[in-house]
Amino acid sequence: MATENPESLPRQTVDSSAFSSAGQCQYCHIEIYQQWQGSAHARSFINPLYRQQLARVSNESQGAADEFCVSCHAPIGWLTEQIPPIDGEGTDAVAQQGVSCDLCHAITEVPQVGNAGFRVSPGKVKYGPFDDALQSAMHESEYKRIYSQAEYCGACHEIIHPENGLVLSSTYSEWKAGPYGSRRIQCQDCHMTPGPGVEKPNPGVAATGAPKVRDHISTHYMPGTNVFGSKQAGFEDHAALAEETLQSAAVIFLGLPDGLTPYQPARVNIRIRNDGAGHYLPTGLSVFNDMWVEMVVTDEQGSVVFQSGVTGSDGTIPEDSIVFGTTFADAAGNETDNLWEAARVLSDNRIPPQKYVDEFIEIPGLSRPGTVDIKVRLLYRNITPQGAKELGIDIADIPVTEMASAGGKIQVR
Ligand code: HEC
Ligand code: HEC
Ligand code: HEC
Ligand code: HEC
Ligand code: HEC
Repeated sequence: MATENPESLPRQTVDSSAFSSAGQCQYCHIEIYQQWQGSAHARSFINPLYRQQLARVSNESQGAADEFCVSCHAPIGWLTEQIPPIDGEGTDAVAQQGVSCDLCHAITEVPQVGNAGFRVSPGKVKYGPFDDALQSAMHESEYKRIYSQAEYCGACHEIIHPENGLVLSSTYSEWKAGPYGSRRIQCQDCHMTPGPGVEKPNPGVAATGAPKVRDHISTHYMPGTNVFGSKQAGFEDHAALAEETLQSAAVIFLGLPDGLTPYQPARVNIRIRNDGAGHYLPTGLSVFNDMWVEMVVTDEQGSVVFQSGVTGSDGTIPEDSIVFGTTFADAAGNETDNLWEAARVLSDNRIPPQKYVDEFIEIPGLSRPGTVDIKVRLLYRNITPQGAKELGIDIADIPVTEMASAGGKIQVR
């Protein structure tokens, strides 16, 4: 995928008193506040998995990675030069709110997609999608077209290694190269509307007491895949929305062999189509999550005669299972999940938007005539067993979401 020069944008610095706390917005934008509060954006600086990986790359790069990582996860801290140091010690509460209201609504332009390629102008004016906003006592408003465009999100949702140019996360360019990008169905059209799927109108008012009932108010839940993080932070609505989003993404079609004889192996075709995601499935830093296929074959007595992708008691996915994602290699060619050491893509079997992939599983010959029952599920888990171990979390506590399922029967005569 094309790499823009990640060094081309000069660093911007801003006075630390320039940004307001999200708490100051809630008086008038209470619904939007509640939606944002439970979102991954609000936890971008405190997310334990991020903090752990940050400490790891910071340590191994002797601080060289610090500015890069914090520019998107703690953008206010970065702009105001409070972070690094990466522990965030001594940073003010506003900077700890991560990707917050006042960071996002201070953005005036995105000169460069990726690597925090936004420009901000924090203060009295809040920028947004309305060209006719009522001026409030708290702030002025100004229209910027970029708010309704994918490039706005692309400022952070495209992660390029600043030293070797490797594209670590390419959500924006996956979108741009695909059918949603060419039809300009924006990130906002799926992620800032109620429930999964493309834009559903959400009429209402943008602020308490605002006189104008608008055709559409953009929701700020921004659900993705984050079931565990939302639950852990106590936001059940957000967790449910993440589940629904995952369940809207894929469809499975099974191709089953017909009329097998005993001892003849059966080749099952599992076709998975990315029906609902505007980018690859999965997208983002997939090294930290698991998306895989589980297949269970049972005989007429209900005994399991074959299985694939069934996790062990320690949560591990067996070696020969079908697992989707990107893996990285370091400069020496060894597989790594260290974002700073990653130098090239080792493998990538993800599913492009509105495309399908065909995977195959061979069931060894069944000894007796009869009918066997096949059940296939596409599963998702926010944290890998390795990640859970490092975070001191029991992998059994990480929810597994069933994204899609399909079933069928094979006759052995
Ligand atoms: C005193 C009430 C009040 C407070 C506090 C407040 N706002 Fe607003 N805001 C409004 C009103 C009223 C509107 C106009 C709504 C309309 O025209 O439909 C608005 C509109 C907006 C818009 C839309 C602007 C546009 O042109 O698209 C944004 C963005 C916004 N506010 C952000 C914020 C942020 C960020 C904060 C916290 C730092 C905040 N607001 C605090 C009352 C408030
Ligand atoms: C990740 C960036 C981001 C964050 C965080 C964020 N917003 Fe927004 N907000 C947007 C975008 C983008 C839009 C416009 C969406 C569109 O036009 O499709 C928007 C729209 C709005 C609007 C106009 C309403 C509408 O229907 O478009 C208001 C008001 C607003 N945001 C307030 C807030 C407040 C208050 C917070 C914090 C509680 C917040 N935003 C957090 C990006 C953000
Ligand atoms: C200032 C940088 C920034 C901008 C702008 C931004 N995001 Fe994000 N976004 C992040 C970061 C950082 C995370 C990861 C937070 C975490 O999990 O630690 C994230 C997480 C998300 C997630 C949740 C992923 C999950 O695992 O559930 C979604 C969905 C998302 N963003 C959508 C959007 C959309 C849509 C826009 C544009 C309207 C946008 N973001 C704009 C930085 C940004
Ligand atoms: C057609 C609807 C649609 C569009 C358009 C869309 N998305 Fe998504 N997005 C989804 C669905 C469904 C998922 C859940 C499945 C997955 O992870 O791909 C998702 C997941 C995500 C995630 C979670 C990834 C993770 O690892 O947790 C992020 C981040 C995200 N989208 C950002 C974006 C951004 C940025 C854009 C625009 C460049 C965008 N999306 C466009 C539907 C959409
Ligand atoms: C250009 C913006 C950007 C930069 C720079 C960035 N990230 Fe992120 N990070 C994101 C976004 C957006 C997400 C969520 C979607 C995704 O996976 O792409 C994310 C997700 C993550 C996650 C997964 C969180 C989860 O709960 O699944 C980890 C871990 C992480 N980042 C660590 C890092 C580290 C360590 C660095 C520095 C080497 C870094 N990030 C640099 C934007 C960024």
